[in-house]
Amino acid sequence: MTRCHSGWLSRIESLAVFRRLALSPRLACLLLSAALAALALAPQPARSAPSAPAVSAPASAAPRSIYETRFERKPEFKTLVALGRSLFSDRTLSASGRVSCASCHDPAHAYGPPNRLPVQRGGPALNLPGLRAVPSLTYHQTLPNFQPHFFDNDGNDSEDQGPTGGLDWDGRADSAHEQAAGPLLSPFEMANKDNAAVVAKLKSSPNAAAMRDAFGAHVFDDATRAWNGLLLALEAFQQSPADFYPYNSKYDAFLRGQVKLTPGEMRGLAAFNDKARGNCASCHISAIKRGAFPQFTDFGLIAIGVPRNRTIPANAKPGYRDLGACGPLRTDLQGHDEYCGLFRTPSLRNVATRGVFFHNGVYSSLEDAVRFYALRDADPKRVYGSGRRFDDLPQRYQANLNKEAPFGRRAADRPALTETEIADVVAFLKTLNDGYVPPQAGSRASGAAVAAASKN
Ligand code: HEC
Ligand code: HEC
Repeated sequence: MTRCHSGWLSRIESLAVFRRLALSPRLACLLLSAALAALALAPQPARSAPSAPAVSAPASAAPRSIYETRFERKPEFKTLVALGRSLFSDRTLSASGRVSCASCHDPAHAYGPPNRLPVQRGGPALNLPGLRAVPSLTYHQTLPNFQPHFFDNDGNDSEDQGPTGGLDWDGRADSAHEQAAGPLLSPFEMANKDNAAVVAKLKSSPNAAAMRDAFGAHVFDDATRAWNGLLLALEAFQQSPADFYPYNSKYDAFLRGQVKLTPGEMRGLAAFNDKARGNCASCHISAIKRGAFPQFTDFGLIAIGVPRNRTIPANAKPGYRDLGACGPLRTDLQGHDEYCGLFRTPSLRNVATRGVFFHNGVYSSLEDAVRFYALRDADPKRVYGSGRRFDDLPQRYQANLNKEAPFGRRAADRPALTETEIADVVAFLKTLNDGYVPPQAGSRASGAAVAAASKN
């Protein structure tokens, strides 16, 4: 892995290409090593990524040529990661001076929300509510750019998997650096007026010296260069394997044959995979594929029709609807009805560290989130109350809703999962939290933890 990342900045565009191709990290790693060997460290040619999809994400505030930015110095990948880590929790970069990326994307919660609030507050006075639940930032390293027709590059698997990929719940951002511009400038997040305002703050922030060390003493002479450096460092940090895709959950240990799952966890895994019951794995991939450990998502954009969350302030306006890929936050697909109600399938790795579930955070327990799947069609009253079914998706878009198992049952059919199976699936999902210490290796570690705890 280390070899893949040395000289990372100069090869970053290759990494973006790998992401587009959705290669496994290991394969990307090997190819990246080969590319590193083949290419000189000279200035980069123009992006040589595959041709853009027919429908592309909207232009962002970030310059297109960010990877071609010429800095006085080319930092090593690990320097960029360290800088990015520090910037990620730098509150001085927000208008309020009190919000950093980490305030919403808490490292202790797999870079997801730190609390059970469906939406977080931001803005200059920290009183403006957001519109969506904060997603986890883990396991995004193979996320392809948004494309309306995705074909898995499996060779023999050429089925059109429909709209796939892109960052944010609606897939509207194509890269972590493009995405990072969003929260820095969003009026209800970090609320800076423009790029220059961010750079001015950065210049007098505790990270100014590290910025100069990484990119050169004159990095602040050119606001665009400093801005690009900031975004690249944040992006590099989010590509750091140890932080963002460690593959060290109990389930990973199970896949490596290091540990057994409990009977309940095994029953949960079986129900999760079973096409006639949970069928969860049809979207949340659970098996090793082409040598790569599963991401628990196929990155597809799908309409599943979760209930409206009336506690989100924006939803107090009866006319406000978050329709996902067709808007209002995403603008390039507005008016394309077939995209309404579609949200990107999130990874379920670390899902049990979350306090809110789905794009609108409508559930605050994992049991309820799983029960939604069992009851949506079999017992809609328990999901939507006595009001209208699919109460957050207007009738004219309801043809977009997924109707395959576990959905597609008629009211009064038996739910796809019993209450016991729901509990089993939840037990299984808890094995997807990173940071698991296998028993043998763990006996000493947990001994040390006990000793440390007893000192306090
Ligand atoms: C006030 C809370 C808040 C802050 C601060 C914040 N974010 Fe986010 N972040 C969100 C929300 C909410 C979303 C989902 C947005 C959407 O889908 O429209 C999100 C989405 C993302 C995503 C896409 C994840 C995915 O699964 O597609 C990335 C990457 C990200 N944020 C990185 C950052 C970085 C880097 C910073 C700091 C520069 C930051 N965020 C600051 C709330 C926040
Ligand atoms: C047809 C594809 C599909 C299937 C099948 C599916 N999911 Fe999902 N899952 C999604 C999508 C899409 C979302 C996000 C939807 C949204 O927020 O509106 C999601 C979100 C979730 C979430 C919330 C995660 C978060 O970060 O908030 C959980 C938990 C979840 N799914 C569990 C399951 C379980 C358990 C099953 C099987 C019973 C399952 N899913 C079956 C597509 C699917």
